[in-house]
Amino acid sequence: MAGRILIIGACGQIGTELTLKLREIHGKDQVIASDIREGAEELMQSGPFEILNATDEIHIKEIVDKYEIKEVYLMAAMLSATAEKAPMKAWDLNMDSLFHILNLAKDGKIDKIFWPSSIAVFGPTTPKDQTPQTTVMEPTTVYGISKQTGERWCEYYFNKFGVDIRSIRYPGIISYKTLPGGGTTDYAIEIFHEALRNGEYTSFLDRDAALPMMYMDDAINATVKIMEAPADEIKVRSSYNLAAISFTPEILAEEIKKHLADFTIKYDPDFRQKIAESWPSSIDDNAARNDWGWEHEFDLDKMTSTMLEGVGKTLKENA
Ligand SMILES: NC(=O)c1ccc[n+]([C@@H]2O[C@H](COP(=O)([O-])OP(=O)(O)OC[C@H]3O[C@@H](n4cnc5c(N)ncnc54)[C@H](O)[C@@H]3O)[C@@H](O)[C@H]2O)c1
Repeated sequence: MAGRILIIGACGQIGTELTLKLREIHGKDQVIASDIREGAEELMQSGPFEILNATDEIHIKEIVDKYEIKEVYLMAAMLSATAEKAPMKAWDLNMDSLFHILNLAKDGKIDKIFWPSSIAVFGPTTPKDQTPQTTVMEPTTVYGISKQTGERWCEYYFNKFGVDIRSIRYPGIISYKTLPGGGTTDYAIEIFHEALRNGEYTSFLDRDAALPMMYMDDAINATVKIMEAPADEIKVRSSYNLAAISFTPEILAEEIKKHLADFTIKYDPDFRQKIAESWPSSIDDNAARNDWGWEHEFDLDKMTSTMLEGVGKTLKENA
């Protein structure tokens, strides 16, 4: 009975696949999915689900008591592009939800927290190539400011109250099972859908906008691995840099052309280009590799063929 896992924001791009993976590992009844809305059928059918608002502290406590929760994965957040359109709402969601979970751990109600940060914690004054674990951080987006502040509070709760918080600065996550939730790296998913549907894509980022990216399976494996690591291996209690691949829209288009020779790409950068310009092009993640043995599996070639196959199958099923 005791020691269940709660996922908040389980219906999103990452939460959906994380929930399925954790249920595979721990058993379906050990992992409680929750979100402010219902999610994909595969997720909804895979085990217990609760409608839960991540800013509702009292309801979170009730769910934690009801299911004897010991670990929380807080995946609910407002992402970079959406947050620019609703700054105060983004701030309230991203910060309030984190404090509710940190305080539950501080009060001894739960034992362990996973909370994702992002490459958005970096800004225009950060070294762009092979961005180090510890460096200048002056984020210029609402989302980045909320993630950086979150990191500071995570480290503070660890140092001051011994809260076992573990965190990763995810790069742009690429997947086909659930659509992305309004981030600056969403182009790298849309491009596959449009390539297969129409043979062409207009990118909202410029041809040379290099950003760090990662295929979903790697992101999920990293999340499981950091949570399973012995506590003394987790030396960074703000958030770990994490990297796999780095490419531009032009490089990705060339890779897709190897499979779909007639594919064409155009560029029509919008406000998201400015956000992309403020972020690193590539990330140094040696701390994660050395401390808890992180390794990625998907390179550009493998990610591209997996995406084309996965998106192709989804389009056929929905036709
Ligand atoms: N996807 C990426 O490329 C990426 C990159 C870096 C960091 N991250 C971080 O990873 C986490 C998950 O991202 P994602 O891509 O799955 O996001 P998403 O937008 O796809 O999913 C977020 C989920 O949270 C839910 N949600 C929103 N408001 C809520 C509320 N008040 N209460 C409960 N649930 C609520 C949404 O319904 C959604 O299902 C976020 O913290 C995000 O900042 C994601």
